[in-house]
Amino acid sequence: MSPVALKDNIYWVGAVDWNIRNFHGYSVQKGSTYNAYLVMDDRIALFDTVKKGFQSDLLHNIRRLVDPEKIDYIIVNHVEMDHSGALPEIVEIVKPKKIFCSANGKKALVDHFHREDWPYEVVDNGQEIDLGRRTVTFIETKMLHWPDSMFSYIKEDRLLISSDAFGQHWATSERFEDEVDEPELFRHGAKYFANILLPFSPLIQKLLKSVQELGLEIDMIAPDHGLIWRSSPEKIIAAYDRWSRQECSRKALIIYDTMWKSTEKMAKAIADGLLQEGVSIKLLNLEETHRSDIITEVLDAKGLVFGSATLNNSMLPTMADVLNYLSGLRPVGKIGAAFGSYGWSGEAVKDINKALEVMKVSLIDPGVRVKYVPAHEELRKCVELGRKIGRAIAAD
Ligand code: FEO
Repeated sequence: MSPVALKDNIYWVGAVDWNIRNFHGYSVQKGSTYNAYLVMDDRIALFDTVKKGFQSDLLHNIRRLVDPEKIDYIIVNHVEMDHSGALPEIVEIVKPKKIFCSANGKKALVDHFHREDWPYEVVDNGQEIDLGRRTVTFIETKMLHWPDSMFSYIKEDRLLISSDAFGQHWATSERFEDEVDEPELFRHGAKYFANILLPFSPLIQKLLKSVQELGLEIDMIAPDHGLIWRSSPEKIIAAYDRWSRQECSRKALIIYDTMWKSTEKMAKAIADGLLQEGVSIKLLNLEETHRSDIITEVLDAKGLVFGSATLNNSMLPTMADVLNYLSGLRPVGKIGAAFGSYGWSGEAVKDINKALEVMKVSLIDPGVRVKYVPAHEELRKCVELGRKIGRAIAAD
């Protein structure tokens, strides 16, 4: 990919990773990008780098614009290695006068690369640096996504370089959001939010308020992954407001795994009950659906119904995996219940209930257990469970 101009003398110089499919356990079926930005002013600044292995893409892009040795500053908005993996090689070549980062950023850089000798310059929230005709203001965004994270704002260009926030894992030849299909863009944006930023929702609410109070004029948002928001930055800001308030719709998920289709029969009967109460449903079989797609659906679902057969005195491993993953991402405000078939011991429902209590899911029923294969009467109980959950969702 070639450099792409965002503004006068401001360029995307990052890398497109067409082939990545697993981003630390998050399935990225359409790849990703590692965005880095070059601002060419009286002093030249590189904002973030790229993942290790993509440094030649970054250098090739920079060299089309300027000799890398002419870069004065490197700004590290975020230390996670998808943005800093190339840093040691880039520092060697660029020999920057300063590496700007947060206080936590400096600690994390030293812990990653063990280079006390780099020319770090720690910046505080609200601190400004002068590039010549432009000023960069640093905004601390601790935990979005790591303790070191910060935004860089260039007021003369009304440009927010937003690190992980407002990004998407989506490899495209296009660089701007108005060049791609909007519904697909927001699907990737929601998946990214659900898998990366959901646990930090209260911090995002605070950040959105403080950005409003600071009166920052933003006409472009340049994240470190995916498409750059140049035509409608307000749309992704509104989506982050909505997602971080964890607003739910009248939707329930039936998330299940099954051994001999008994639990699946129960799942379908529960779905019938939910539908009778006017709730939109999705059946998600864990053998077919990746955990990162489950959490994306969870984002706006009010009802979560989990079903597992009992295997070796416990829930099925796929169910343990997804509950562990969801628990870490801390969705809030959900209504739930459990169900499952069993042969002799039947612990799965009890164990799922325990996990849901830890997740603070409001359990509205002890759940339905069926020995071996559900008979008609037992399926009626499942329909009733669905209706009960449906009524609770409607009353919420
Ligand atoms: Fe894209 Fe938290 O790194």
